[in-house]
Amino acid sequence: MAADRIEALIARMTLEEKAGQLGVFADMVRPFAPDVNPDANVRNAGQVLEQVRAGRVGTLFNGVGAAAGREIQRVAVEESRLGIPVLLAADVIHGMRTVFPIPLGEAASFEPALAERSARATAIEATAAGLHWTFAPAVDIARDQRWGRGAESSGEDVTLGCAFAAARVRGFQGDDLRAHDALLATPKHFAAYGAVAAGLEYAQVDLSPQTLHDVHLAPFRAALAAGARTLMTAFNDINGVPASANRWLLTDLLRGQWAFDGVVVSDYTADMELIAHGYAADERDATAKAFLAGLDLSMQSGFYGAHLPGLVESGQVPMAVLDASVRRLLRLKEAIGLFDDPYRSLDPAREADTAHLPAHDALARDAARRSIVLLKNEGALLPLRRGGQKIALIGPFAQDRDNLEGCWTLFGDKTRYVTLEAGVRAALEAAALLEVVPGCALEAPLDGGIEAAVAAARRADVAVLALGEPQRYSGEAQSRLEIVLPAAQQALAEAVAATGAPLVVLLRNGRALALHGAVRDAAAIAVTWYLGTQTGHAVADVLFGAYSPSARLPVSFPQHSGQQPFFYNRPRSGRPELPGMAEFKSRWREISDAPLYPFGHGLGYARFAYAAPRLNTPQLAWDGTLVVTTRVANTGAVAGEEVVQLYVHDRVASRVRPVRELKAFAKIALAPGEARDVVFHIDRGHLAFSGADGAYRAEPGVFDLWVAPSSATGEPVDFELLPA
Ligand code: GLC
Repeated sequence: MAADRIEALIARMTLEEKAGQLGVFADMVRPFAPDVNPDANVRNAGQVLEQVRAGRVGTLFNGVGAAAGREIQRVAVEESRLGIPVLLAADVIHGMRTVFPIPLGEAASFEPALAERSARATAIEATAAGLHWTFAPAVDIARDQRWGRGAESSGEDVTLGCAFAAARVRGFQGDDLRAHDALLATPKHFAAYGAVAAGLEYAQVDLSPQTLHDVHLAPFRAALAAGARTLMTAFNDINGVPASANRWLLTDLLRGQWAFDGVVVSDYTADMELIAHGYAADERDATAKAFLAGLDLSMQSGFYGAHLPGLVESGQVPMAVLDASVRRLLRLKEAIGLFDDPYRSLDPAREADTAHLPAHDALARDAARRSIVLLKNEGALLPLRRGGQKIALIGPFAQDRDNLEGCWTLFGDKTRYVTLEAGVRAALEAAALLEVVPGCALEAPLDGGIEAAVAAARRADVAVLALGEPQRYSGEAQSRLEIVLPAAQQALAEAVAATGAPLVVLLRNGRALALHGAVRDAAAIAVTWYLGTQTGHAVADVLFGAYSPSARLPVSFPQHSGQQPFFYNRPRSGRPELPGMAEFKSRWREISDAPLYPFGHGLGYARFAYAAPRLNTPQLAWDGTLVVTTRVANTGAVAGEEVVQLYVHDRVASRVRPVRELKAFAKIALAPGEARDVVFHIDRGHLAFSGADGAYRAEPGVFDLWVAPSSATGEPVDFELLPA
C-alpha cells in the first residue's frame, strides 16, 4: 500500500513539485531560532506559506510550536495540489525545553545509556513542540580542540564516539518511528568535519583514506546501524572534493558499499558553497554536481527548486535520478506516519503537558552531575561541607544564567535554569556560609572586582573559582587560536590564589583547555562543561559529595595550546620520548608532548585498585574470543563509580599503529570495600584496521593490552592473535 501510494504520487507530481520536495527551508512561519545560521535566501512567513501552498517545500526547519506547525501542515495537506505533508525539523542537539549537558560533556559520563535516555526525553519534548526531525547527533571525531564544534561531538576517541552516536540515534528515534514521540535523527556532518586543518572552521580536510575510514567514518556506520534514516553532509572538502558533492562518499560508499537507502540532506547552503570552493562554476553547475553526486535535499540555497527542472529538461539530470530522491524523501515521510496522520506531533494540548516534566528535570540533574570530571583533588579538599565552612564563590560564572546551556541550544526554557549560586545556596545549611563575588566579567576586568574577590577569599575557609569560556566560544564558527581562559579570569585566579585560601576551580568549557598558573596549580579542579538546566544543583551535588564524580575526559587536556591537534591514540613515533631520553626525541623544545590530563582521566571520592588483567588464553585464535577478567576494588571510604577502560596496542603491523586505542569500557558502581570482576570479550574485530593496502582487517601478531582507569595508566599484559 505505502509503496503504491508513493509511486502513484510520483507519477502525478510535476517536475517543479518534485524539485520542490527536495528543498529544506528556514521555518519563518513559526518563532524562529536565534541567529544560528548566516542570512541566505531569507523569506518571510507569507512567502514560506505560499511555497508550501504551491507544493514547493518538502521540509521546514528551526521553527517551533504545535499550533503554528498545525497551520503549516493544514496549508500543505489541504491547500496544495497533492497534499503532501511537510517535514518539520530543527537543531535539537542536547535538549529542547529541558537542556542537557553539551554532547561532549555527556560523553564524559562514559554512559551511552544515559545519552540514550536524555535523547529520548529530548524527543518527547521536541515532538510535542511540533517537530518530526532533529539535525543531530553530531558524530564528528574532534582531535583539535581549537575547533569549536568538538562541543557538539563525543570527543577524540572512535570507540566512545561510536557508542554515543548509536545511543543518541536510538534515543531520538525510539522503538517505533510512527510513534508520535519518535524524532528522526541525523548523524552529521558527513564526513570528517572534525578533521579541518588546524582546527580552523570550514578549512580543508586532507587525510589518508585509512584515517578517513577508521576514525571519521566509523561513528556514521554505528549511527546507521542504530537505525538512522538520514545523514547531513559536511561543509568541508575531503582531499579536495567537497563532501556535499562527493560522489565517491555519497553514492559509491554510502549507497554502494553501505547500502544506505535513506535521505541525505546538505548542511546549510553547502551546495551553494561549491561555488566559493571553486568546485562549481555557477548555481546550475553546483546543483548538477551536488545532486548527481547523491545529495538528495538542498538546505536553504533554493538551488534545487530553481535549477533541477531545467537540468532534467536538458537531460543532464535523468528523471529517474530525480524520482529516486523524491521516492526516498516520500518514504521517509511514510516511515514516520505523516501520510496516515499529517498532524502527528502537532497537538497543542500535548505541547502544554510536556513543556516541563519533573522527570526530565531529575534526568537533567543526573546527566549533568554524571558529566562532571574531577581532574584533581589535592588533600581531599573536596567534597566541601554543607555547614561549618565559609565559602567564597568567585568568578563570572557564579551567578551567570546566560552561559550555562551551551552552544546549539535553541529552545531552552531559561526560566528554569539553575545558576551555580542557586545550586550552592540550596545545598548549604545557612546563607551566611556563602559569599558570592563576580571578581571580573567574562572577558574583562571589573572595577574593584579583584579587590572584592580577594577580600572575600580572605574571609572564607575555601575559595571556589567559577571560570571558563563564554559559551559563544564554542559551537559553529568558533575556532580559537589558544584554548586558554580569558586573561581577565586568569588575573582573577592569580589574585585569589595569592591569598593562600584553599582553591577549587570549576571550569565551564566547550573544549579541552590548556590550564596555566594558579588555575593549573589549584588544589582541586573540576570540568563542568555546559551542563544545561540543572547546572547549579548538579555542581553542588558533586561539590558537597551528594554525588561522587564519575566522569572521565573524552578529550585530552594538553599542557599547552601549541600541542594541538592532540589526541591520545596517535601513531607511534620512531623516536618516542623515553624516561630520561629527551634529546632527538619526539617532543617540543619547551615541553614534552604529554597531556596535562589524559583521555579517560577522572577522579572520584572513592579509591579504586585494579588487579592485573587475567586472559583466558595467551593466544587468540583467528576466530576466537579473548576473555579479559580484571578484579576492581573500591579501597576508599565512600561508594563510587569507576570507568574501567580496555586499551590495546598492535606492536607490529603493516601501518604504524596507535600507542593505545580504547576498545571497550564499562562503568561500575562499588560500595566501600566491594570488589568485582570486570569481564571484557575481545575478538579480532576489535583489532581490525585499514592496512597499507586499504583493506580493513586484523593482522596476526602480538598485542599489548591494558585494563586501566585512563589512557595513560595501567600495566600491560600481552597476547598473540594467531593467523587464520
Ligand atoms: C548549521 C550547522 C548544522 C545545522 C544546520 C542547520 O550551519 O552546520 O549542524 O544542523 O546548519 O541549522
